[in-house]
Formats: sequence, C-alpha cells, structure tokens
Amino acid sequence: MFDRLCIIGVGLIGGSIARAARKYGLSKNIIGYGRQQDQQNLEIAKRLGVIDEHYSEIEQAVQDADCVVIATPVASTESIFALLKPYWADQTIYTDVGSTKGSVVSAALKVFGAVPDNLVPAHPIAGAELSSVEASVDDLFLNKRLIITPLSHTRTEALHKIQYFWERCGSIVSVMDVKHHDAVLAATSHLPHILAFALVDLLGHKDEQSEIFKYAAGGFRDFTRIASSNPDMWRDICSANKNEIIPLLQQTREQLDKIQRLLENDDSQQLLTLFAYANTARQRFLNQFEGTMSKSITFQVQPGGRLQGEARVPGDKSMSHRSVMLGSLAEGITHVKGFLEAEDALATLQAFRDMGVEIEGPDNGCLTIHGVGKHGLKAPENELFLGNSGTSMRLLSGLLAGQPFNTVLTGDKSLSSRPMKRVTEPLALMGADIKTTEKGTAPLHITGKAGQLKGIDYVMPMASAQVKSCLLLAGMYAEGETSVTEPAPTRDHTERMLSGFSYPVNREGSKVTITAKGKLKAADIDVPSDISSAAFFLVGASIAPGSNLLLKHVGINPTRTGVIDILRLMGANIEVLNEQIVGGEPVADLHVVYSPLKGIDIPEHLVPLAIDEFPVLFIAAACAQGQTRLSGAEELRVKESDRIQVMADGLQALGVDAQPTEDGMVIQGGPIGGGVVTSQGDHRIAMSFSIAGLRANAPITILDCANVNTSFPEFKDLVKRLGLALVCDDCKDAGSTTPGIGELLPRETKGSSAEES
Ligand code: S3P
Repeated sequence: MFDRLCIIGVGLIGGSIARAARKYGLSKNIIGYGRQQDQQNLEIAKRLGVIDEHYSEIEQAVQDADCVVIATPVASTESIFALLKPYWADQTIYTDVGSTKGSVVSAALKVFGAVPDNLVPAHPIAGAELSSVEASVDDLFLNKRLIITPLSHTRTEALHKIQYFWERCGSIVSVMDVKHHDAVLAATSHLPHILAFALVDLLGHKDEQSEIFKYAAGGFRDFTRIASSNPDMWRDICSANKNEIIPLLQQTREQLDKIQRLLENDDSQQLLTLFAYANTARQRFLNQFEGTMSKSITFQVQPGGRLQGEARVPGDKSMSHRSVMLGSLAEGITHVKGFLEAEDALATLQAFRDMGVEIEGPDNGCLTIHGVGKHGLKAPENELFLGNSGTSMRLLSGLLAGQPFNTVLTGDKSLSSRPMKRVTEPLALMGADIKTTEKGTAPLHITGKAGQLKGIDYVMPMASAQVKSCLLLAGMYAEGETSVTEPAPTRDHTERMLSGFSYPVNREGSKVTITAKGKLKAADIDVPSDISSAAFFLVGASIAPGSNLLLKHVGINPTRTGVIDILRLMGANIEVLNEQIVGGEPVADLHVVYSPLKGIDIPEHLVPLAIDEFPVLFIAAACAQGQTRLSGAEELRVKESDRIQVMADGLQALGVDAQPTEDGMVIQGGPIGGGVVTSQGDHRIAMSFSIAGLRANAPITILDCANVNTSFPEFKDLVKRLGLALVCDDCKDAGSTTPGIGELLPRETKGSSAEES
C-alpha cells in the first residue's frame, strides 16, 4: 500500500500499528518518530524489527512519507500538528488514533485554520495492558472495531486508503461523524472508566481504615479492571470529551438515585425489572459482539456414525412463546413445564418482564407466571429486543397494537431483514398504527390504539401461523369479530392454548374467529418436545445404517407432523408409540430405525405442515435413491435465511446435485462429499448439515453456527451422545476443537485491556 509509513510515537499503540503493517505487508518502509528522549525506545523498536528507521527530527521522519500516523496521546495532538505544519505535504495522507475526535478536529482548526482535506481522523477501539514497544503485538486490531470520522471535505481516496489499511490489519471499520463518535465513546468507554476510577477512589480511602480490599473478590476485580489504565491518558481523554461526558454523569446520578429509592421503598419487583433488563441488554451486547466480530461458532463433523439410544429433545418453541404470552395475560398464576430455554423463547420471556410481568424461572424448564390480566401490561421503558425470533415479533405486533402504550420492537440482523408487512398491513386494516422501515422490516414502531381496533374478516395470502396468531391476538382487543381464513392448515397452537386458558375461539373449516369478549384464566401448561428439533434425529436415524432411536414425549399436533408423513413416503421406518393428549396437545414417543430412502415429489399440502423441517428433509433427499422434488414452498425464502438458496449452495458445495427453484428444490440423491458450508446464521441449516455428516464420505465444516442456541442449545451435546462425531468451540469437550477456530472467539477474559481508549 505504502512506500514509507511514518508513525509518530511508537511507545503506545504505534508499535502495534507498525507490527500489523509489517505483518500484512502494508508498507515497504516503516519509519518511527520520537522526541530526543524517546530515541532509546526507538532503537529497541528497530532492533526488534518493528520499524526500519527512526528520527528525532520531524522533517527527516516525514520526508517522502505517503502516510503519517499520529499515535501520541490526544492531549499532544495540537503540538504534533504544529510540528508537522511546515512539512505538511499535499500528496501525503495523515491520520491519527486518538480516542476523542472533536478534540483532534479543534486542534487541526487551531493550527491550520481549517482541517486539511488529507487528514483522516480515526480511532481503533483497541488497547494493550502494557504500553511499551516490547509489549506491542501485531494482532491488536484483529476483529476489533475501528471508527473513521471524516469531515464533509475529507478526500475520498484518502478515506478509502485509510479504511483499507485498517481492514487489512483485521479491524472492522465503521464510518461516522465526529460528534456521534464522541457521544458513543463517552457512553461506552469514558463513563465506565470514570465510574471505575471513582469507585476505586472511594473504596481505596475506606480500605485505608477497614481493609476492605482484602475481602474484595472477582466482581470487584472485573468491575474495576479499567481503573488500572494510565491516569494521565484518561485525564486527557475525559477533559477532551467533557461536553459529552457531563450530561451522562448527570443521568448516572439520576439512575443511582432511582435505585436508592427502590431500595428505600423495598420495591423488589422494580429492582428486579431493572436488573433483569440490564442483564438481557448485556447479553444483547455480547451476542452482537459475537455475531459481528467472529461469526464465531464453527461445527466440524467427522463422516459416518449412526444414531442410537433414547432422548428427549427440548420443549416446543412455538408453544413456549405462546405459554409466556397467554400466561402473562391470564388472571392468576400459570405454571409452565417443558419451557424451551433457548434464546428465541427467552427473548419473549424478557419482553413480558419488560412489560411488568413477574415471571419466576426458567428453572429446568419450569416457569411460574404471575399473570397480569388482559389489560395489565405496562409500558416498557425501552424498546423490546426480540433477537432472532420472527414468531415473537409478529405475534407481539398484534398483541401490542391494541395496548394503551407505545412500543418499539427490534431484532437481530436476520430478523431485521424479514418481511413484516404481512402483519402490519392487515393490522392497519384493523386500525393499528405500526411503522416499519421503507422495506417493510423491523424496527416496528407501534402506537398503541387501545379501544380503537376493529375486527376484520381476513383471508391470508400465505399459509402462516404467525400471521394468523398475530391477528387473533389483536382480535382480543378489537371491536366486533376478527376472523382469519387460512389457505392451507397451519399450526394451531394459539387456538388450542387460548381454549386451554378458557378464552372463546371458534373454528369453522379454515376460518378462525375471535372477539374481545373473553378473559384468560390461568392454566398449567406442559410443553411437549419440539417435533422441529426431533426432525434432525428422525432424518439422522433414517439415513445412517444401524441407527435405532427412541424420541420421547414429542408433540405430534397434526398441523406439525408433515415431516413424519414426508419421511414415511420416502420409505422411512418411524413408529408412533404411546400416543396421549397432554394439556390439549397430542404427544407420543417416536421410534425410528434406519431404512433406505427413495426420492419423491413432496405433496404440496404437506408443505405448511413441515415448513421448518425442509432444511433437514433436503439432507434426507440427498441420501435417497432417485430424485426428490419440492414445490409450493416459496415461504422458505423468507425464513431466518433464504433456506432454498442457502441449502442449495451448501449441498452443491458437498457435491450434491441440488437445483434451487423459485419455490422449492430438485435434489438428485447420491454421495455426499466433505467440504465447508455456511449456515448463514440459520440455526436449522447448521443442524441439518451436521446431520449430513452421518452419510458424508469426508469431514464437513459448518460456519456460523452460533444461532443453534436460538432453538436448540443442547443439540451439539445430544447429537454427540447419540453417535455423531461433532466438534465445536463451545461443546463440553471444547479441547478437541480444531486449532484456530477458538482463536476467533471474543472471550471476555482474553485481550483484556487497561487502555480501552
Ligand atoms: C411459527 C410459524 C411458522 C414457523 C415458525 C414458527 C409459529 O412461521 O416457520 O418457525 O410459531 O407460529 P410462518 O407462520 O411464517 O409460516
């Protein structure tokens, strides 16, 4: 990229920049500049090969440099600009790494009268515990965020070069304006440092009298780690960004006062709500970190194996969502058994806690929900974050449309790209006010229209249980009748559970009707195992010779059993044993034994009844003899990923003849090879390709598997116990992980930095 890269100051972060530039071959020569008293350090840097030359005269240091990086403390930026001014060259790109950007811009204005258009202010959000050239490392910026804050007149090619430079060093680059940068950093970096310094200052003085540090443990150490940072540097940063920091200190004071009042008033419910919100907000922060920083979890499956034994897969996801929703709106206490403790259902649970519902658990799948009644929800203080869960967002949009308060629903990257107009349009016909993005996606801004919704008679254009359920929930708050007609049967858990809670709901043929005249009475719910999770094992045991598996207590609601019907049509050997009705839902044990499969044309009427199972049914098709054809399944294109495209790409990568069509796929059964596939963050695709390993002839690596936790966190351990050779970063025996994969994981203890400037 550059012939001569000059770094002003190699003692702090500059040494690591030089090492990264060296490692990734970004400059032919790397020059260090330092004051006379720094020459000894520069000599060490040269000896270590960090830089090629060094100077104490700025003129010599910057001569012919095509890029100059200012890597000195923020407070010195103005004097460095003054030093550089006489030699400032038009063709050179200048950049800096200061943690406050407003101060860099003001320093440039002071020295130059206007900010030069070849100065690109930047800020790597990375730091090192020790600051010396010996402690510098070449991977300091790997998977770390870096913010560039150009001005409107900054030269585009200079901006692009700096962006490229940092991307080559491994950073994740964002571009934002100076003010926004300073506001964001004040909240997430400067305020926490001040709080850490303040707490240690306070307790340090107390310690002098009462030795409290002696008894301080991990919590104190974690919270105060950043108070070990360089005090001079932090004085400078806080002074430079005081305009953004002072209002935040005021808000912190108010927050502490609020907590003090809650304690004084023994308001444990509100205190729990506050702590629980903080707890999930932090989880959201960690999840986002995981998602963007590393797409971290990779599965590797060794070829072969068979599935044998007995298992009970976790609780049904659809029913778990609904149990929290209806239990919260019921009068009285609802006990739930078999609740799915996975991210999607937990997102729903948190949303209801945020709306003032007291929910105890989950404890081993058990919840105790203290229902607040149909009109008892409270306005959440913040937006409701629903993670990856389409069910949660779509059902909640109906429920919240008729509340006496406003809400904002947000989700992760996948959920934020899924179509929401399918619910907001019919809700608008009922009088709801919900704003989406222009593309019709989340965030959803819902203005509560309590007492103003009107029932409609809606014929759904697609077979969707989420749309149906959304409208039924809105119908509980609407004047007159709300009817939904479905073009084909879809899962009916909402209707069944409403009846279980004594709420009147009427079905005539394909039309379901509800009114606002009804109350939900608390009821106990026993959530059966999720047939969508069992499906991986039904297919796995069907394709792997020698398999023999008993899956216990699986929900076999006829609107969900398409997977059994399709597999049986293909020749699978699945027995349904021990059928019974539990809490209004049919449940059975499923016994599956290996049997050679044959390709079929999948009957279209089975599509909505197996809608979530197609990723793994495609694997069955790849193992079957002959051709399998699926059509009428265009809905698969708008699931957690485009399941037609992502599965076709993965199957082709494994050497399978899989041709995607608009609304399905044509798969020719044959050998499955090894290779690398990506799940595109889709939990069901990650698990499906793991199952393919049973019949592959070489190892399969599956990227981007973290979202398996949205529906089936136990999958990895269970599938291994039953006979598949799977390794992954967060499996219990993570020691066997392929070297290198774990390296990408953002571990909280790793890379701890006392200078997260
Ligand atoms: C679900 C309905 C289905 C399904 C989803 C869960 C539900 O979605 O794919 O995983 O719980 O109502 P659609 O209604 O969009 O088909």
